[in-house]
Amino acid sequence: MAEIRLAIEIAGLNLRNPVMNAAGILGLTADLLRRVYEEGAGAVVTKSIGLKPRMGHPNPTVAIVEGGLINAMGLPNPGVEYFLGELEKLKAGGIPVVASFFGETLDEFVEVASRLSEAGVDALELNCSCPNVEGVGILGSDPGAVKRVTEAVKGCVDKPLFVKLSPNVSDITEIARAAERGGADGLTAVNTLRAIALSIEARRPILSNVTGGLSGPALKPVALRCVWEIYEAVEIPIIGCGGITTWRDAVEYLLAGASALQVGTAIMTRGLRVFREINMGLRNYLEENGFREVSELVGLAHES
Ligand code: SIN
Repeated sequence: MAEIRLAIEIAGLNLRNPVMNAAGILGLTADLLRRVYEEGAGAVVTKSIGLKPRMGHPNPTVAIVEGGLINAMGLPNPGVEYFLGELEKLKAGGIPVVASFFGETLDEFVEVASRLSEAGVDALELNCSCPNVEGVGILGSDPGAVKRVTEAVKGCVDKPLFVKLSPNVSDITEIARAAERGGADGLTAVNTLRAIALSIEARRPILSNVTGGLSGPALKPVALRCVWEIYEAVEIPIIGCGGITTWRDAVEYLLAGASALQVGTAIMTRGLRVFREINMGLRNYLEENGFREVSELVGLAHES
């Protein structure tokens, strides 16, 4: 019987399987990210890292809603300097690390990316799509700005650069093309969808930030549509993200055009076993349907 291969290559990155955690779900510590890898992820993605320590928004920062979560953390993180120590521990264990990062100015984006790149991350994920921090969210909806920041970062790093796109735009293909023109090696589609949750007891918004970003199964059909549209618009590979909970979701994303996948909210609802469950389901699907490699599924639903 032919061997089934879950291993993939994306933008020059060789991974043992296509499933990673989504940025932000499990923080920045090497111990937690190592556990993600030990539980079966193909690579680990850090929480978004900025230049300086940042507190983020006050509580409440998360609301549970039908079909998912709404979060407005406000990009809390201890700053790039702190993370470099954690990165050293991850690299010592041979774990592929994708560092998510952001800046409050173009220079900050470049400085954080350069420091992470020099410190040996395997790839970078440029967050220009957080819906909860005004400057970052607005940046991601402006094609000119996305091209400029991508270009500036790409000019200073020698690692694959993925740009994480926002679904909160009227035409995501315009932003995807801008990132591609700026030199992005790939795109992560998508970040969370702007949303709101209200308390009928308090008669107020639940989150301190009023609005937040919706993730989880409720986001999936929207995110899948984004991947579908982007696949038809650009040549660079896509990492699908948004509500992936089961191997069936994973297969849908691959068929829509994603070459790799990120799992976020499902880590909270299913636990870390979600990585093994998805990989096992993918392997069975490939075997039962006569495929040998994950890459054979990528974009297959677009074929007439
Ligand atoms: C947040 O920190 O508010 C969420 C991060 C993101 O959506 O990029």
